[in-house]
Amino acid sequence: MEIHRSKSAIRAELALWRKQDATIVLVPTMGFLHEGHLSLMRLARQRAGAQGRVVASIFVNPTQFGPGEDFESYPRDESRDFDLLRAEGVDAVFAPDATEVYDPHAQTIVETTELAKTLIGKLRPGHFRGVATIVTKLFNIIRPDAAVFGEKDYQQLAVIRTMTRDLDMGVEIIGAPIQREADGLAMSSRNVRLAPADRAAAPILARALDQAEAMAPSGITASRLRSHVRATLEAEPRARVQSVDIRDAATLDTISGPLTRPAVILLAVSFGKVFLIDNRVVHPSQEAP
Ligand code: PAF
Repeated sequence: MEIHRSKSAIRAELALWRKQDATIVLVPTMGFLHEGHLSLMRLARQRAGAQGRVVASIFVNPTQFGPGEDFESYPRDESRDFDLLRAEGVDAVFAPDATEVYDPHAQTIVETTELAKTLIGKLRPGHFRGVATIVTKLFNIIRPDAAVFGEKDYQQLAVIRTMTRDLDMGVEIIGAPIQREADGLAMSSRNVRLAPADRAAAPILARALDQAEAMAPSGITASRLRSHVRATLEAEPRARVQSVDIRDAATLDTISGPLTRPAVILLAVSFGKVFLIDNRVVHPSQEAP
């Protein structure tokens, strides 16, 4: 597994693979890998096939963090990440630093105008512009046939699918199911920063989603379901609920009446300084998965 720090070096390796007609699948990450990321690598390998190549990128992208957010304290452990990727059979890693990625005179951004402003976009202004711009740059550098992203970042996946469609990027976007710890907590690189008492309290997100999933087929309205989920989360004194939203699972449009189509419940909850998100797609009775 080659580790490339520069765009020119990874492009040289990719050019050789393209001559062999290899399918190239990219898994963009910000490192500090966990089992959830490794499941993305496995999905990438399935898509690439034995003759294809899987490329992972590791880059903690400064432009998707707002002032006062956790860019500096975001956990990093590159050598452990490289070992995990090697063991997973990944073919190459692109791990540049910020000066390699961003030209100091850069003036171009990519933004999904509506999607970037709603939900997490309201809590973290500019976040999705940073994500869309870096993912576009990674697509331009690697030029993958397909790319894999986790469904835990539901809105991010929607942003990436939308920009890929709108800008005719020709990259197949593959969503990978959320991986959970034994107690239900969605895997995230940020989980290691939870204080022990917060780590013990954090599975409340998954429990609230389990309850909501069980209630969804009862004919309950989206607004009542939302109130119920919020009350469950607020009953946990360590949880600071940032947002609870129920949206159309396909379009992310707001819903308030009875659920008639698959809906996604999106949670953002802070424990101390750690910001966690989770989600679940739920189905009204006549719409069982
Ligand atoms: O999901 C992430 O880890 C990041 O947002 C991504 C897609 C790698 C872009 O920096």
